[in-house]
Amino acid sequence: MKLWGGRFTKETNQLVHNFNASLSFDQKFYEEDIEGSIAHVTMLAEQGILTNEDKEAIIGGLQSIRDDIRDGKLVFTEEHEDIHSFVEAHLIERIGDAGKRLHTGRSRNDQVALDMKLYTRKEIKEMEHLLFGLLQSLLKIMKENIDTIMPGFTHLQKAQPITLAHHMGAYFEMFYRDRSRLQDIHKRMNYCPLGSGALAGTTYPLNRERTAELLGFTGPTLNSMDSVSDRDYLIEFSAAMSIIMMHLSRFCEEIIIWNTNEYQFIDIDDSYSTGSSIMPQKKNPDIAELVRGKTGRVYGSLISLLTTMKGLSLAYNKDMQEDKEFVFDAIDTTKGCIVLFNGMLDTITFRKDRMRASAEGGFTNATDAADYLVNHGVPFRDAHGIVGQLVLYCIDKNISLGQMSLEEYKAISPVFEEDIYDAISMETCVAKRNTIGAPGPQAMKEVIAKYEAYLAEE
Ligand code: ARG
Repeated sequence: MKLWGGRFTKETNQLVHNFNASLSFDQKFYEEDIEGSIAHVTMLAEQGILTNEDKEAIIGGLQSIRDDIRDGKLVFTEEHEDIHSFVEAHLIERIGDAGKRLHTGRSRNDQVALDMKLYTRKEIKEMEHLLFGLLQSLLKIMKENIDTIMPGFTHLQKAQPITLAHHMGAYFEMFYRDRSRLQDIHKRMNYCPLGSGALAGTTYPLNRERTAELLGFTGPTLNSMDSVSDRDYLIEFSAAMSIIMMHLSRFCEEIIIWNTNEYQFIDIDDSYSTGSSIMPQKKNPDIAELVRGKTGRVYGSLISLLTTMKGLSLAYNKDMQEDKEFVFDAIDTTKGCIVLFNGMLDTITFRKDRMRASAEGGFTNATDAADYLVNHGVPFRDAHGIVGQLVLYCIDKNISLGQMSLEEYKAISPVFEEDIYDAISMETCVAKRNTIGAPGPQAMKEVIAKYEAYLAEE
């Protein structure tokens, strides 16, 4: 059944119907469509626009449709254009004339704007919850690894010793910001468009505050044209998801590197790895690679949406129907990736011995050797040059700074004394970095306490 057959004399071409239809994907928010309709008729009856009798009949009908869809008794069939037409047609079939009054004071334009908001609002909450779980996993690893020394890198070259807790803390910060970004979007988008009509409101005395309240919104939107053509919140949400995926992807890249034969910093659990059909020895980090790969897909949703919106005059244009598949795919992909990633992270074994050994190599304590000289009165620039000579000497002899004898040190600078060995030990290098945000155990414990308080607030 069509909602708009009156002014037409010919049947719609079948290809046009198929091309125009959105039921195959907007059926995803049938619950929200029905929830919005129930709020709408509740308000209509309160305003005296609908009789209580009609309201009861409509709500009963809508609930039975919802129950039947849930139970698989009512299936989506192609002759309906979209979820709104589908529900209305079935309502009229079930309850007769009262059903024809449902759409009083409403357009599909404000209806779809509402449905999409209700759906994404729920998904934003869910994603926030998943990020919370990831933050919990990260905090657990941090607490267990305040003293686990590993190399920190710049340019993927060993730079200075850090700890595993510190490295995980960097990701805690990223996902913490991601979570607060979702909270911000939720706050900004939580205004109800219902009652905006096609574009110019309606002539009925609707109570828009009341519908907003019934549906848990902060209030009604304040411009009906904007209400039916605003997709900013979907763009923001796609941007937030793109950033989440970018963070996950960087993390995955590190996990892939740490899992190589060369590094062996970690063992990914068998249950989160896959094998090769030809090479019997292989255990591949496919999950990390897939999360990294799917990042492109989520970026695609952001770019597609921005491009779809950029040339649209006010108010509603059918182009906007294209918002759904991008966003649905981005939501399902991002949620799936957070869940899979968290499971993988939770079951990873960290090879502390390998991390420690790696930190010992590559002169990660060279800065500390220079700081030692500075603490004994040598200007930093000169100290930098002296330690550069030490490093050259060690490379030539194939030893580390800690393996040089005191005589060898003194031959390059007489300032060095026996205590240089303690000053450049991995423990000292880390322990001395105790300014807030640094890897030193004292600083780390303070930060962990803040993170614990944040997670306890939930
Ligand atoms: N299926 C449509 C969409 O998703 C519903 C709104 C239709 N409005 C219209 N004026 N044709 O955008």
